[in-house]
Amino acid sequence: MDKVKEYIERNKNKFLEELFELLRIPSISAKSEHKKDIITCAELLKSHLEKQGFNNCEICKTKGNPIVYGEKIIDNKLPTVLVYGHYDVQPTDPIELWNSAPFEPIIKKTSIHPEGAIFARGACDDKGQMFMHIKAFEILNNNGGFPCNIKIMIEGEEEIGSDNLEIFIEKNKRKLECDIILVSDTGMIDKKTPSITIGLRGMTYMELELTGPNRDLHSGHYGGSVINPINELSRIINLLHDNEKKITIPGFYDEVIEYSDFERKKMGSIPFSEIEYAKSVGITNPSGENGYTSIERRSIRPCLDVNGIWGGYTEEGSKTVIPSKAYAKISMRLVPNQRWKKISQLFSNYIKKIASPNVTVKVSEHHGGEPYLTSTESKAYKSASKAYEDVFKKEPIPTKDGGSIPIIAQFEKILKSKTILMGFGLDSDAIHSPNEHYGISNFLNGIETITKFYYNYTK
Ligand code: BES
Ligand code: MN
Ligand code: MN
Repeated sequence: MDKVKEYIERNKNKFLEELFELLRIPSISAKSEHKKDIITCAELLKSHLEKQGFNNCEICKTKGNPIVYGEKIIDNKLPTVLVYGHYDVQPTDPIELWNSAPFEPIIKKTSIHPEGAIFARGACDDKGQMFMHIKAFEILNNNGGFPCNIKIMIEGEEEIGSDNLEIFIEKNKRKLECDIILVSDTGMIDKKTPSITIGLRGMTYMELELTGPNRDLHSGHYGGSVINPINELSRIINLLHDNEKKITIPGFYDEVIEYSDFERKKMGSIPFSEIEYAKSVGITNPSGENGYTSIERRSIRPCLDVNGIWGGYTEEGSKTVIPSKAYAKISMRLVPNQRWKKISQLFSNYIKKIASPNVTVKVSEHHGGEPYLTSTESKAYKSASKAYEDVFKKEPIPTKDGGSIPIIAQFEKILKSKTILMGFGLDSDAIHSPNEHYGISNFLNGIETITKFYYNYTK
């Protein structure tokens, strides 16, 4: 057994205990009541960086949640790797669907993880994955020291759009200068089929508020004679897709890259079963834009989804009412070369055009981010690929993921550096859902792969 594997084997219980401590902190960025937990989490991470000999460790204040930063500069002639991750997590609702408390991590066996998986909010997204890097640093330290310069930046607002991180990187361009950025916040195809993410979707997140009558009305007294904003909102939402499940917003597809038959065929050769895919989320058949496979629909094609819709009476029992207002939160996932600000404008124009003049429509923008694409030809990609091959005994497949990490495109624009997305999560990990978990073997293999990346990259 090599030294890296041996170190992991000897220290795995300690690694897990340390991760559990991190997972016990409810660092939910969407809710202001967790402000204190956010700070506790940032402080714990800073102490981990200090333990690994990082210099200039700081908790950098922002208008929102702080950014944890540390660096270890060995020699200016050596390359510099910047590691990025996030310590904030998604809210836990619906809490009643969790089989164990989200912030009391426990290990349970699953059919996919017979050796055990860690159940907790953030276990995979992204505390578990981000922590693999800190443990890789520990191994490097105990195995001859860092082979290159390393900087690390861990933010607390990824799940709410990274607005303050963008300001931070604009202000700290010099400090963050690097040759390559390394991120573990994505997934792989399955436990035995490693993959490296070379594409991420962008996004535009919007909110609609429709106002009909100036107050809630008796639905018998007025029903049938005045506009109901919830009925109208439903009609508008229904108009956003046509019968072929294409998005109807004029100009929406103008910049979308169309792939050649050759490239689509290559995507089709990734091991994937449509029916198993549907079954894994409890539906009969996958569905989406006509003429595309599920893999294509969730990677190289854009989509539009209502994330939440509300208004009127939603409490126990029934109340006969025509509400004054109706609301919806709508996100669009974007692909190269769509631009999120342009899509936001097109969306807004179209909604205003199709809405009845009998409602007042307010369209507002939450956040957005550009899609990302990188090549498999770089030295860093090849170093990562070789590291996966060493650990998983299979060459990783380059894939495009459906999720978004908006800051990755901004890294390229502002810092002029590319990112390698070394993810180890699985679709079945239930990120953002109840019972999020992360396989222990994914965690340990991830640590080994990341460590080996450094040796390959600096060889
Ligand atoms: N780690 C995810 C993104 C992800 C998940 C990428 C799976 C690829 C595969 C990240 O934490 C996330 O959830 N991002 C948000 C974006 C954000 C602006 C709220 C997303 O994709 O919804
Ligand atoms: Mn994440
Ligand atoms: Mn997430």
